[in-house]
Amino acid sequence: MNDRPLRILFVASECAPWVKTGGLADVVAALPPALAAAGLDVRVCLPYYRSLRAEVGEAPPVATVVGALVRKARLPSGIIAYLIDAPWLFGRDGGPYQDADGRDWPDNAQRFGLFAHAAAILASGETPLLWRPDIFHGHDWQAGLGPLWLKTSLPKAAPSVMTIHNLAFQGLFPAETVEALRLPPEVFAVEGAEFYGRLSFLKAGLHYADILTTVSPTYAQEIQGEAWGCGLHGLLTRRRDELTGIVNGIDDRVWNPATDPLIPSRYDRDRLAAKAANKEALQRRFDLVVDPSRPLFAMVGRLTWQKGIDLIAEVADRLVSAGGQLVVLGTGERGLEDTLRALTQRHRGAVSVRIGFDEALAHEIEAGADIFLMPSRFEPCGLNQMYSQRYGTPPVAHATGGLADTIDGVGEGGCEGSGFLFKEATGAGLWEAIERALDAYRTPVCWQRVMETGMRKDFSWAASAARYRALYHSLIPDGNQRALT
Ligand code: ADP
Ligand code: GLC
Repeated sequence: MNDRPLRILFVASECAPWVKTGGLADVVAALPPALAAAGLDVRVCLPYYRSLRAEVGEAPPVATVVGALVRKARLPSGIIAYLIDAPWLFGRDGGPYQDADGRDWPDNAQRFGLFAHAAAILASGETPLLWRPDIFHGHDWQAGLGPLWLKTSLPKAAPSVMTIHNLAFQGLFPAETVEALRLPPEVFAVEGAEFYGRLSFLKAGLHYADILTTVSPTYAQEIQGEAWGCGLHGLLTRRRDELTGIVNGIDDRVWNPATDPLIPSRYDRDRLAAKAANKEALQRRFDLVVDPSRPLFAMVGRLTWQKGIDLIAEVADRLVSAGGQLVVLGTGERGLEDTLRALTQRHRGAVSVRIGFDEALAHEIEAGADIFLMPSRFEPCGLNQMYSQRYGTPPVAHATGGLADTIDGVGEGGCEGSGFLFKEATGAGLWEAIERALDAYRTPVCWQRVMETGMRKDFSWAASAARYRALYHSLIPDGNQRALT
């Protein structure tokens, strides 16, 4: 009888606090401890970027796979991480996907090709490690070739799960990549990893994995349609019985206004008055007119088309005329950065923008703002709207993907709900919802009700972790059959 816990290997390109460009990092950091609490043995496999050296030092090497060292380290949560150390691919300054000037690394196919191959080997009979996972759980395109290697080439391969955090990023490379990465040539087929003449890392994962998940039920539906299916809706519709939407949670140890060390004044539902000091600090920090009565709007995130930054720019003048203030923290497309900078010039004291990535400032904004803006055109899950509800900063958001699943929309003239949703991702749609939010804001009892409703919501990982656990068990129905190593 072998009743040891199921072993899961998370394979991803980001994990907070070590390497983060977006929500993927938060999920890969927070879900494993939640799964461990649910009785699973989870470890994480990441590339050993140069920037990680400062975090983990010379983590001891425990093996070699496909020419790379496997180093072993521990995340702050206590979860064990295997770091794939291939200095010729990951030992450089810059971001995980791009150089300091925002250009994709030209060898991304080699970088994440090797990474996924190494991780797949760790989940097969060829692993040099004693700890052999029962399940390979890949996240986004960077892990996409893992299920392909497992299904086509490796002995005693673990079954695999692929999670889509964002279908718009697919890892598309020229056809020659198949040969360069020594993939079996037959995988370059419509029923495989080929996508309109190119090799798609994400499609490989979605075709070869045993189970597919994405990060909200609404997004799971949306990606089966042409509008948001990014050319993969046919495959996803065919595999709909294996596709599940499981909403993300939030890490309560990191995002909790009652304990957050990164905010000037801590508070919770019973001490809501203490939130005001955060607003004042934020107005000062952003050189805005310090005035408790002016509704302070905020946005934190990647400055891209996805996030609807242009819609924010479209309504900014009206927002200021209505007495509002706006702060934005983000990095991304140069054009959008410039648009936002121009707004700051036009509305000194009312609009202020920081271009950059600043974890601490993100916390100060969640705590200090009154209203959080998330007009994303599509949003697989979105974390900021959950953080903002937790921090008593009701969101105004487009009713799409995870935003629709995690915000209870307040109706016209009402106070029941935790945020303000709009249906059309246009400036007019956003503005209509902002007006509703302003009406509620100007009625303090009503506003307090909306804030408290959001703060009371349960965004913990426990329920979602239980759903992942059930999926894993569906792949390994008989615990006795597990590898004994
Ligand atoms: P996405 O993953 O699509 O970027 P999410 O809402 O899921 O969107 O997650 C974004 C995460 O990244 C949040 O934790 C957010 O606070 C953080 N983030 C994004 N941009 C910045 C930034 N410029 N500075 C600090 N944190 C940021
Ligand atoms: C992606 C999505 C975002 C989601 C995050 C974590 O980056 O854009 O909506 O919250 O992944 O799953």
